[in-house]
Amino acid sequence: MFKLIIPVSLSLVLGYSQLFGQTGVPSPMTIDDKVNELISKMTLEEKVGQLNQYTGDRLATGPVTVNSTKYEDIKSGRVGSMLNVRGAKDTRDVQALAMQSRLKIPLLFGLDVVHGYRVTFPIPLAEAASWDIPAIEGAARTAAEEASAAGIHWTFAPMIDISRDPRWGRVMEGAGEDPYLGSVISSARVKGFQGKGLGTLDAIMACAKHFAAYGAALAGRDYNSVDMSERMLYEVYLPPFKAALDAGVATFMNAFNDLNGVPATGSSYLQRDILKGSWKFPGFIVSDWGSIKEMVPHGYAQDNREAARMAMLAGSDMDMESHSYLPHLTDLVRKGEVSVSLIDDAVRRILTKKFEMGLFDDPYRFSNEAREKKVLNSAKNKEAARKMAEKSIVLLKNERQILPLSKNTKKIAVIGPLGKSKEDMKGFWSVKWDNDDLVSLYEGLQKKVGSRSKIEYAKGCAIGDTSRAGFAEAIETAKRSDVVIMAVGETFDMSGEGNSRANINLPGVQEELIKAVQATGKPVVVLIMAGRPLIFNWTSDHVPAIMYTWWLGSEAGHAMANVLFGDYNPAGKLPMTFPRSEGQIPLFYSYKNTGRPPLNENDRKYRSIYLDLPNTPRYAFGYGLSYTQFALTNLELNKTSMNASDSILVSCTIKNTGKYAGEEVVQLYLQDMFASVTRPLKELKDFRKVMLQPGESKKLQFVVNKSKLAFYDQQMNWTAEPGEFNLMLGTRSDKISLERKFQLIN
Ligand code: BGC
Repeated sequence: MFKLIIPVSLSLVLGYSQLFGQTGVPSPMTIDDKVNELISKMTLEEKVGQLNQYTGDRLATGPVTVNSTKYEDIKSGRVGSMLNVRGAKDTRDVQALAMQSRLKIPLLFGLDVVHGYRVTFPIPLAEAASWDIPAIEGAARTAAEEASAAGIHWTFAPMIDISRDPRWGRVMEGAGEDPYLGSVISSARVKGFQGKGLGTLDAIMACAKHFAAYGAALAGRDYNSVDMSERMLYEVYLPPFKAALDAGVATFMNAFNDLNGVPATGSSYLQRDILKGSWKFPGFIVSDWGSIKEMVPHGYAQDNREAARMAMLAGSDMDMESHSYLPHLTDLVRKGEVSVSLIDDAVRRILTKKFEMGLFDDPYRFSNEAREKKVLNSAKNKEAARKMAEKSIVLLKNERQILPLSKNTKKIAVIGPLGKSKEDMKGFWSVKWDNDDLVSLYEGLQKKVGSRSKIEYAKGCAIGDTSRAGFAEAIETAKRSDVVIMAVGETFDMSGEGNSRANINLPGVQEELIKAVQATGKPVVVLIMAGRPLIFNWTSDHVPAIMYTWWLGSEAGHAMANVLFGDYNPAGKLPMTFPRSEGQIPLFYSYKNTGRPPLNENDRKYRSIYLDLPNTPRYAFGYGLSYTQFALTNLELNKTSMNASDSILVSCTIKNTGKYAGEEVVQLYLQDMFASVTRPLKELKDFRKVMLQPGESKKLQFVVNKSKLAFYDQQMNWTAEPGEFNLMLGTRSDKISLERKFQLIN
């Protein structure tokens, strides 16, 4: 008979039930046990190797350091993770090198799967405009299904930096300006990427980035310094990170910027005190690309060795392409400048994720060429991308109900530099593919109208230059048509990392082209394709129909055609304020009143105004039209006062009063009328997106509890203070339909 002999010493230390559980059967080793056992076998060099991440050779997403020993380093256990290696075959080949190392610790493969992998979804800012949380989660899910089949274990997403500065090129990657909307979306994206949990074959690790406050770069210039109050940090910039943490995000990435004088990568305050300290984050933190060594030009570390020490002490676990940890950490430990317990902690965090992903059972389990072939670019995934693209479009203007276009329109002119563009539709941070099957606007329209209508195209001008040579052809083309659809905006690489712009007007002579075409008297619909809020005041004032389409991904053309012809009724709402001028930036809806607010448009003397501009935006946060109309009525509160342990049930009725079936987003804002710290005039606290048939109405309910009323007081305590609150409901932030006051009592 099988008999288990336990050394007396071990049974004394662990006790019977810890070894066998209550049943008497030996307990399987936990992941913690396995990690500890492995760490006990590792040399210091091997431990440091786990903290080292290199980029692969085929893709570069930052300044590359020439590195001829990369693959030898993998074989000798000096690399813990690779980024920018993708595809079942390539990841398998590179993993095979790691399997030649002494301890055969598998590599983690990371990639920026930001808005889709093979099938490209709309840029994240566009998806945010859908306010459709299940759809956003679904988009991340599809991306994870594809990426995981191509050997990817880990995405550097979601990017959840709040930003209130459209000059910053990276606004395209986030969810806009608002901490509440940003938090809900952050959580949805993490859940989407991580699916049923790490270890599931179609789940990839998510990475909440960039910790923290990167989106507040001074003057909207990428990588720039950030200086902000602790209150602003906690109230506006940290909530989406806390939401990601609560959703179980596996990893965090720190940031390029310095925050109040300390580079985020070297900030113990951010990484050890907040994230690993009070938030108890159990996963690991990766640096941003080269951000450890960039503490040298920041003027914070004297050299790369000191940068390595500072980053490790501050809690940065993995070095992405800085080449700082591998050459210096071993020596820093040997000389007593870094304690080995810090290294062990970082290694433990990383190995735990490798075990959770099942990589020790099978290091190749995600690198499956058959699955890759089956999953990538499937009809189902394309359809999901098209639907998401439709939901992301924001209808800004529709006078005389030019839209939707009649299906009997005989002659359509497509004019503008983006009318036939394919690559731009993908937007920045999309994965490159050779056989691009992206759908341009022109192709989408052609497919939609078939032989029913004739479509003519004229480019009119280029995006960036000043030549008007193509105007004449564009005007002639417009004159021959029944309706003109204009495709203008930015090229995809005018936003994204490193792509900040000081002038965010429609680039080049595009607005002049719009004027010239509009002068033909033909009905004009302008589609604006961009990675950020742009300024286009003349167009806003004069053109009857405007749609903001952002970058919609692989299926862009089909989605735009469906919306133009009314096969999908647009329902997007802006997740970011659109200014009238760069001079208003930062401009956001949740501003404070000041002591001298203008009481009306003519109240201008000694008031908080501009002499040469209104305070109001061109298009407000939460704004977006539909082909139908909605009425919001019957606001009811089940009581008008509550105490802190109580809640108020709010209800209202939303009715589709127009002719088309459509969706509306009902937004709930709150204002604390008087508090120990000045509060914004309104803050989004909840919303519902509902679908209604013509004539249909629905009753909506919201719960207001203490957590919706709380803020950081002067001592930075999260608290709700007794007093009066204003509750507002509307379908855009600048036009409240219903409001009611209530009291929080002690
Ligand atoms: C970006 C990160 C990205 C990384 C890897 C950096 O330049 O800031 O967001 O994940 O590169 O591509």
